[in-house]
Amino acid sequence: MLTTAKRQILVTSALPYANGAIHLGHLLEYIQTDIWVRFQKSCGHECHYVCADDAHGTAIMLRAEQEGITSEALIDRVSREHQADFATFGVAFDNYYSTHSEENRYFSELIYTRLRDKGHIATRDIDQMYDPVKGLFLADRFIKGTCPKCKADDQYGDNCEACGATYTPAELIDPVSAISGATPEVRSSTHYFFKLPDFTDFMHQWINDGHVQPQIRNKLMEWFEAGFNEWDISRDAPYFGFEIPDAPGKYFYVWLDAPIGYLASFKNLCDRQGLDFDAFWHQDSEAEVYHFIGKDIVYFHALFWPAMLHGADFRTPTAVNCHGFVTVNGAKMSKSRGTFIKAATYADFLNPEYLRYYFAAKLTSKVDDLDLNLEDFTARVNSDLVGKVVNIASRCAGFVKKLGDGKLSAHCVEPEMVARFIGAGDEIAELFEAREFGRAMRRVMELADEANTYIADAEPWVLAKQAGREQEVLDICSVGLNLFRQLMVYLAPVVPAMAEGAREFLRLESLDWHSRHEVLLNQKIAKFKPLMTRVEPEKIDAMMAASKEDLVEEQKLKETPKGPLAEAPIADEIGFDDFIKVDLRIARIAKAEYVKGADKLLKLTLDIGGESRTVFSGIRSAYAPEALEGRLTVMVANLAPRKMRFGVSEGMVLASANDEGIYLLSPDTGAEPGQRVT
Ligand code: 2FM
Ligand code: ZN
Repeated sequence: MLTTAKRQILVTSALPYANGAIHLGHLLEYIQTDIWVRFQKSCGHECHYVCADDAHGTAIMLRAEQEGITSEALIDRVSREHQADFATFGVAFDNYYSTHSEENRYFSELIYTRLRDKGHIATRDIDQMYDPVKGLFLADRFIKGTCPKCKADDQYGDNCEACGATYTPAELIDPVSAISGATPEVRSSTHYFFKLPDFTDFMHQWINDGHVQPQIRNKLMEWFEAGFNEWDISRDAPYFGFEIPDAPGKYFYVWLDAPIGYLASFKNLCDRQGLDFDAFWHQDSEAEVYHFIGKDIVYFHALFWPAMLHGADFRTPTAVNCHGFVTVNGAKMSKSRGTFIKAATYADFLNPEYLRYYFAAKLTSKVDDLDLNLEDFTARVNSDLVGKVVNIASRCAGFVKKLGDGKLSAHCVEPEMVARFIGAGDEIAELFEAREFGRAMRRVMELADEANTYIADAEPWVLAKQAGREQEVLDICSVGLNLFRQLMVYLAPVVPAMAEGAREFLRLESLDWHSRHEVLLNQKIAKFKPLMTRVEPEKIDAMMAASKEDLVEEQKLKETPKGPLAEAPIADEIGFDDFIKVDLRIARIAKAEYVKGADKLLKLTLDIGGESRTVFSGIRSAYAPEALEGRLTVMVANLAPRKMRFGVSEGMVLASANDEGIYLLSPDTGAEPGQRVT
């Protein structure tokens, strides 16, 4: 039996990097966490769910530079995109913040200075590769060269993808900076280290005290046996992050201030809502703190983070809950197979609650990977949510409307069955609490089967045709809707939008866990609307096709020569015969429009002398549509049409680009639409 005492709980999901879109791999974690949080709230506990964008580091700084905007502008834009995606999938944070915030600076400095003042910070000089052109120390992944073992070229600075060898960047043959192409130099600089070995006993105790799953504990113990090094927590300028106190030109490494972002986001929430921060983070706090993370970042969360917190006199997490990775159709998500699916692309085609249910149906408390098999996804959503659950309501609602004037019976003719459904809530609650969502969903579907069997055996549709049996029909359907209500209480953390529809249909104040004890008698219900429709397999195909389009768009952006000749060398020579195959025409832009859901594209209607073409072009960042209308340009008129998510593109307009902008080609005055360009 779960405690009925009100608990104070703080929950986090990992902070996504502020330089990329949310995809289905990310969503597993946010959906898992959100379900757990919604369940806790449903039970009446005080539960706060916070997150933030992980906004610092070299990758974000370089990405902003590549886009020709400031790091701040980039992280603002990405934060808005992330929050829109989370809202679409019903992930309801109580606060979504940024690690680039004053609260995070405060806590990063506080934790660092407390550790330093207790002697847990060391400094020493280290040699590192330096890009003399960019004026930047290079992390291993920004160095490329020839593998010292197998001689494969174009390998990263720490390991070879061809032969699997690991090495230091200094061992690479002919190393170059992946950023500028310059030959890196070795330079020395002072770095700051967190003395992890000071916390060996503490960490050993912590990971054996039930704060992590058994599989994770075993993995961590292997690392233990290998021993700990001091952790390098500083990076040299230029770096997008926080400067280390009393260390000009030295910045906190992004992984130092990222988990501190959990504190910062929560502090921001506390300040806005008048909550007591210390009640959750003081050393003696009795509140519960849970971090949900992927298995790839256990090291930081289950070793470094508790050590940092402990060393700086904060409490440590109650538990770090790890999940595995998402595979699609049995394989790693792949851009070329169209299975690297962005959250926004999925939502263009499919109901987000399908995915929430499917993930829930397959989630356990373990760390195993979860396969999104798209055929199984279709079958399971259709059979469970639509075929079993919605079916109960749709079979009963009409009779209640017709025979009871929209009012349920005044008495319950199956009190034992309804009581059993209510009782099952205790067992289901334990499964939710233990993050055994798959088992919880199976139990709910067993109950749904039972409810359907009851209705099928009672055959209200047969009785409805017999005179004088109206009350019986109403009684049966009232039981059916009471059972449906129980199921929706249990499903509400998983499919909140569907549950909201059910709540409105049953005209209930709430579907909270405890509300289920009251049987619905004499309850006036609203008109039934379908609460969920079937997954259409064509939509899945369209989503995968659109994901491939996302890849084409990304590659086009990458391939757009951005700089002078040296950076975009002249392509391989072609013959005149090849050139003449390209039919270039003068085109007049008759119409230019924004494309909903595509932040880079404009839809152009081109007149090429009596013929009209629709072309989607990635020039939105440089041109307002009205500025283009009437203007002449040059288009490739014989390019095979390409099916994009927003329609078919029948050609291409010509433009060049650099960091500052995009430049559409224009012919001299006098040229006319339709003329061939040679
Ligand atoms: O791996 C990642 O995507 C990191 N941005 C997660 C950070 S979680 C926490 F430490 F901030
Ligand atoms: Zn190699």
